[in-house]
Amino acid sequence: MIFLTGATGYTGKFVLDALVKAGERVRCLVRRNSSVNGLDGVSFHTGDLERPESFVDALAGCTSVISVAHIRFAPQIVDACRKAGIIRAVFFSSTRRFSKIDDASVDAVIAGEETVVTSGLDYTLLRPSMIYGPGDDRNISRLYAFLNRHRLMPILGAGNNLVQPVYVADVAAAARDALWRAMAIGRAYTLAGPKPMTYCDMIDVLAHTAGRLVLKVHIPLFVARPLVGLGEKLMPKFPLQVAQVRRLGENRAFDISKARWELCFAPRSFEQGIQDAKIET
Ligand SMILES: NC(=O)c1ccc[n+]([C@@H]2O[C@H](COP(=O)([O-])OP(=O)(O)OC[C@H]3O[C@@H](n4cnc5c(N)ncnc54)[C@H](OP(=O)(O)O)[C@@H]3O)[C@@H](O)[C@H]2O)c1
Repeated sequence: MIFLTGATGYTGKFVLDALVKAGERVRCLVRRNSSVNGLDGVSFHTGDLERPESFVDALAGCTSVISVAHIRFAPQIVDACRKAGIIRAVFFSSTRRFSKIDDASVDAVIAGEETVVTSGLDYTLLRPSMIYGPGDDRNISRLYAFLNRHRLMPILGAGNNLVQPVYVADVAAAARDALWRAMAIGRAYTLAGPKPMTYCDMIDVLAHTAGRLVLKVHIPLFVARPLVGLGEKLMPKFPLQVAQVRRLGENRAFDISKARWELCFAPRSFEQGIQDAKIET
């Protein structure tokens, strides 16, 4: 039996599906208000990663853990594994750990990974880049919807920074496979698309798939940063943060060769993924 966290989230649903299709028995940690619609063939335990006492007993009878919930919860999960005598665990982290931007969200990922690496568990760390796929992935699907509604596409900066989004089902397959592979123990894998492209190229692929002629309007970063900073100060729920704008300017190109060799990770191209996402949505 596998103990799974984050099963009600975007990626977690695909991880759960990959595990169930592979014949695994799964126990999912869900919060009281989590939406469990469509999660079939599994058992649930209601608890909260913020409150270890609410879920620690639920690991009894499980042989391994896949934690899709944010890596900041690593201390609670490591502790619960120790108490339940579980030694095999796969943790989702993020390529954000490679960011050079001084930001608390980067520090949280690095600290979570450190907890895992020093835990004494037979761990595997998975570091996905931007995840996209069918439905509302909160990334590419929103850009795609925007392109479908508007002719003008604002681009912060020159748009020549590199990105390498990864398809959600490819990430889920890697999580399933990592659990089974002895070679993956004590290893960290970057999971990204097969090759990087510029942000503008990515917009072009989306516009082409949507059959839209879109005019890119570039907003220089030195203009965008103070505007977003002002927006953040004036509106508590401003949709963009200065740290995000600064990260947008970073190249997010990654070497996935270790995952290719050791997990047989074979991510689909962005063009293919966008087609697949459209069909499955
Ligand atoms: N999405 C991306 O582009 C991306 C990129 C890089 C790395 N990642 C990493 O990949 C993983 C999956 O990302 P995602 O975007 O698919 O996640 P998501 O949709 O935000 O889902 C998060 C999941 O964690 C659960 N969760 C959050 N707080 C919890 C708590 N206190 N106790 C128990 N469960 C809790 C949520 O439960 P509820 O349903 O109750 O909210 C949900 O099931 C995460 O570790 C993320 O950091 C994501």
